[in-house]
Amino acid sequence: MRVLRRTLGTLLFLGAAVSCAPAPGDDARPGAVRPAVLAPYERLLPAPASARTGGTGYVFGAGTVIRTGPGGDEEVRGVGELLAEQLRTSSGLPLPVVGGSEGDGVRLLLDEGAEGVGDEGYRLESGPRGVTLTARTPAGLFHAGQSLRQLLPASGPGTVPGGEITDAPRFAYRGAMLDIARHYFTVEQVKRYVDQISAYKVNTLHLHLTDDQGWRIAVDGWPRLAEYGGGSEVGGGPGGYWTKDQYRDLVAYAARRYVDVVPEIDMPGHVNAALASYAELNCDGKAPERYTGTKVGFSSLCVGKERTYEFIDEVLGELAAITPGRYLHIGGDEAHSTPAADYAAFMDRAQEVVGRHGKTVVAWHQLAAARPAPGAVLQYWGHDRTPDAEKTAVAAAAKAGHPLILSPADRLYLDMKYDVTTGPGLNWAGFVPVKRAYDWNPGSYLAASGVPQSAVLGVEAPLWTETIATRSDLEFMAFPRILGLAELGWSPGPANWPSYRQRLAAQAPRLDAQDTTYYRAPDVPWG
Ligand code: ACM
Repeated sequence: MRVLRRTLGTLLFLGAAVSCAPAPGDDARPGAVRPAVLAPYERLLPAPASARTGGTGYVFGAGTVIRTGPGGDEEVRGVGELLAEQLRTSSGLPLPVVGGSEGDGVRLLLDEGAEGVGDEGYRLESGPRGVTLTARTPAGLFHAGQSLRQLLPASGPGTVPGGEITDAPRFAYRGAMLDIARHYFTVEQVKRYVDQISAYKVNTLHLHLTDDQGWRIAVDGWPRLAEYGGGSEVGGGPGGYWTKDQYRDLVAYAARRYVDVVPEIDMPGHVNAALASYAELNCDGKAPERYTGTKVGFSSLCVGKERTYEFIDEVLGELAAITPGRYLHIGGDEAHSTPAADYAAFMDRAQEVVGRHGKTVVAWHQLAAARPAPGAVLQYWGHDRTPDAEKTAVAAAAKAGHPLILSPADRLYLDMKYDVTTGPGLNWAGFVPVKRAYDWNPGSYLAASGVPQSAVLGVEAPLWTETIATRSDLEFMAFPRILGLAELGWSPGPANWPSYRQRLAAQAPRLDAQDTTYYRAPDVPWG
């Protein structure tokens, strides 16, 4: 290959040779580990499927341009413009974006025949004349650009060392969930989270839009949901809601970063905000007060009332119409005040509504005990103490063809405290230190219960916000654990904590440069 003609051949297969060797400075005693000096290709997080370093690199300078290929593809142009914006911020260089691919600089190339990269992967080749990013899709080019960012300094211009990467994700679904119902978060705050997660190749944002404490999305046919039901949150604050235009704006912002939005309207439980907004939704015709506490499982839609189904049809129909992604999440968790037979009957109808509006159902794994519709995706949020019967029901659904998203509460719930020192957060699933969040294998996680690896669509890290009301608390709980999710979802594995914690520590200058609040876990060698 031209740009690597003079490669000296330091061969790094990060999934094997590098990450299986003890990291330099590693030590069994927590806190005693020293930061290692990692070469740029070794620092990448998530670790790429394969990378090779060697040869002369490319020096970014005042004359560097970003070339978006000969085809004039609008979407590739968009990827190039966004990458230029991101690199301008960090490097301070002008980085104009031009068409074509002849000449020095950063070259973005769509190549439908590119091998070993799948739909979202890419190849990156760096040599003295520039850096070439090749992918089958614009999404792959976007992810390549995020790797390129990591090969440059967190701030200031620099050199991309000579080398090449061939990369593709392990799982198609790599998600983060944000609960904007328990505490309201603005579109601007959520955009910042999208920026932060997409930098690590997380490709899905699941928005928990409704719960007992607040309804956060405007619905034209049912305006009091947002106007009244949005006006509360945990602890008695003012709450808030997004207009449909604000939601569309967020969805478009995420799409530009190749993040799909999966909206959730939780039902038949977790609905006090809706019941408080419309008396007619209650079996007794009386609206309850709005709720600002943190109990769960006390509210239910009125399963026997036909008006309930008009309601979910209109709400889900309006949401489907402004959601380009394929999924609608309908909750289905903790419906403790809905009898089991009613729950199953209700979920049958809710799933039919989702299908009729052209979307695929996602639901929390409690749906496994009812009748998941063909194609429905189940999101598992159990933990080490979850009863075997519950896991077996999930396994039966998986074996019947239902894809699983894994969000084990004692691994990936970002609202669990790290340890006894953590201020915000809960601990009902136990503490979740940084190592615990990362050091497991999604492919075999439920194997003992009979879930085949092929049923695992991916992983998602939920962040519930009963105790989290500010950007800084949100970030403190998410960072750095969300980077572990990113690596579990993307890298070929197996998890390798000694290697991972060194690479995680190497992200600190990037987190600092973006003013991200994060927990400096004592067993990560931050330096
Ligand atoms: C959940 O944590 N209730 C899904």
